[in-house]
Amino acid sequence: MKEINLPSAAKIISLALVFCLAPPPRLAAESVPPPTVIAIATARSQITLLVGADRHLYQLGFGITNNAVALPAKAPDREREYYPPAGDGYLFEPALAATHADGNTSTDLQFIKQESSEIDSNISFTRIELRDSFYPFHVFLNFKTYRAEDVIEQWAEISHEETQAVTLEHFASAAPEFSSGDYWLTQFHGDWAKEAQLAEEKLTFGMKVLDTKLGVRAQQYRTPVFLLAKNGPAQEASGEVFGGALSWSGNYQFVFDVDPHGKLRTLAGINPFDSAYHLQPGEIFTTPKMVWSWSDAGKGQISRNFHRWARKNILRDPEKLRPVLLNNWEATRFDFTEAKLVSLFDSAKELGADVFLLDDGWFGDKFPRDSDHAGLGDWQVNPRKLPHGLSYLTKEAQARGVRFGIWLEPEMVNPQSELYQQHPDWVIAQPHRELNLQRNQLILDLTRPATREFSWSVIENTLRPNPDIAYVKWDCNRFVTQPGSFYLPPGEQSHLWIDYVHALYANMDRFATNFPNVTAMLCSGGGSRVDFEALRRFHTFWASDRTDPLDRVFIQWGYSHFYPASAIAAHVTRMSNRPFKFTLDVAMSGALGFDVDWQKLLPEQRAAAIAAVKLYKEELRPVVQQGDLYRLISPYAGERSAFNFVSEDRRRAVIFVYQIGSGKSDPIKPQGLAPTLRYRVREVNLPAGTESTLPNQGKTIDGAALMREGLTPDNTKKFDSAVIELSAEK
Ligand code: DGJ
Repeated sequence: MKEINLPSAAKIISLALVFCLAPPPRLAAESVPPPTVIAIATARSQITLLVGADRHLYQLGFGITNNAVALPAKAPDREREYYPPAGDGYLFEPALAATHADGNTSTDLQFIKQESSEIDSNISFTRIELRDSFYPFHVFLNFKTYRAEDVIEQWAEISHEETQAVTLEHFASAAPEFSSGDYWLTQFHGDWAKEAQLAEEKLTFGMKVLDTKLGVRAQQYRTPVFLLAKNGPAQEASGEVFGGALSWSGNYQFVFDVDPHGKLRTLAGINPFDSAYHLQPGEIFTTPKMVWSWSDAGKGQISRNFHRWARKNILRDPEKLRPVLLNNWEATRFDFTEAKLVSLFDSAKELGADVFLLDDGWFGDKFPRDSDHAGLGDWQVNPRKLPHGLSYLTKEAQARGVRFGIWLEPEMVNPQSELYQQHPDWVIAQPHRELNLQRNQLILDLTRPATREFSWSVIENTLRPNPDIAYVKWDCNRFVTQPGSFYLPPGEQSHLWIDYVHALYANMDRFATNFPNVTAMLCSGGGSRVDFEALRRFHTFWASDRTDPLDRVFIQWGYSHFYPASAIAAHVTRMSNRPFKFTLDVAMSGALGFDVDWQKLLPEQRAAAIAAVKLYKEELRPVVQQGDLYRLISPYAGERSAFNFVSEDRRRAVIFVYQIGSGKSDPIKPQGLAPTLRYRVREVNLPAGTESTLPNQGKTIDGAALMREGLTPDNTKKFDSAVIELSAEK
């Protein structure tokens, strides 16, 4: 058991002696570099750093690529340090704060060396080693640049060889400064069923903090991404904009700190709240990756940069098109039988869905999971609901040409479960406090090896005996309110927030590695865990439990700023009973799925759904899921929303238009087309028996004219919508 070192009077005196009598030795002269510039560059942007003559690391710029950066005439002042540590002169929010083994709370980071390597023709890696001028305490700043996508990933590694633990109190992943100007910050806030809502404000003096302290399901109130637009609110197609995303599924903190001289520094990383980390000699503390992209062509380009980067480097199986699902949650909740499920396989087949996804409620024996009050943790098939087990279901689905998928929530437990009865100390809770339940459940403490292994066994024991299970939805339905571990020693309770997330990733990695052919949806009661680190182990995420398409227009718009459409699961449901075409058109702009009781649909709705799935699979899916997105009209700006996707070769495009209020029908001007290519215009997904009223329907028009003049679908009433395909002539 460790305890935090509070310096005794004797220690303070001996520290003072150390400071007065023994000035910190300077590093060996031969390791002193001359003033030198380090450029961390992509095709269009760069972070420019300076190693000063005093061997501190400063920042010269962050923005457009500049091959001719000159050394400044005089050394920058200490406020301009790139990764400022606390306690040795820096006055503002520090990137790093550490209490060294002897109780010294200051750190002075000096440059040791820089190494760079080419990972491939597009990706480079740079590692800068900093070391405290007195203590054997190291910070490695790592940068991975993705040239073509204009994306920079940055993270830090902290280690030491002091005599005993060093306590880390602040540990930012990145802390860049931004050149002088006014900055507008866009955040993506929300709540359950109201995810990814945009709010933009001008930053003024002082600190603006966006954070989460929820630990698990940590992003319920805010997605870990932001935009910073320079000298005015962010525009889609013009102006300087920075996009930032933290790849971390736990507590995070973004600090936007405008100093008294108007200089903005942004700190991004794990939230230091209640998270003092006692780092043993030889251990490495690795921060999450902070992902940056910069553009001088507006936030639309930032989104396309992130999408391309995520499609190529983050999401699993980026080249594979996401399957169309039929999910039973909205249709049945917990109330289903084996016969009902088999009848839904017939529905999936008729619909043309690729996968049937069995949601919550299939498990629990002594405590059957017939509601959210019981059974979580007891992952045996409920023999009364599913007497022939899962393998029977997978076979019945396969017999109809449909693959079978299943819902899991491997991090959670209901107190009404055999698991909790056997292991009440496996949960996250505080001693001497009344258990605080949410959705009647508790979180399993994954820092305990046995619990982590149990959580893994949920996946292993479900999938291994049923190799035909093709799909998993990994859910997570509550956050931390009582952050105590019955496993961690008293002095390491503050490790819970961070160690939990690493344990979770370890299990997610095992899942992705052991079951590489199982497609995976990341879910947290909707979108409460949507970040690029978790997404490395998944194909899509469930964007929201709110499936009313009117609300989905906003939610999907919000997520589209960072996450590609191939990742955004969008299902057709009957929530709020919106017009069926509008509902289909909204869901088709993401990874399409359905969550409907097929038998309850009207015959014409079933026919429309079947036609929409055919259209999506045969024509729209590759463009939507692998094309570039151009947002055209924001739903926040008025009565309609519009955007288009363009395939990478620019030969195909699809425009989506949603009328969210009544208004007049102005032309929709697509973007990203090849000006000289001639495109055939075709409005699709029309209700059976109707003709398009689009004035240019069937005509062939060159890209320049389409982008200049636009197309004018006859959309004026709330819930009108249009899907227009553009295909280049052969
Ligand atoms: C929350 C998810 O977001 C829903 O889609 C559904 O899977 C329920 N959990 C099941 O409990």
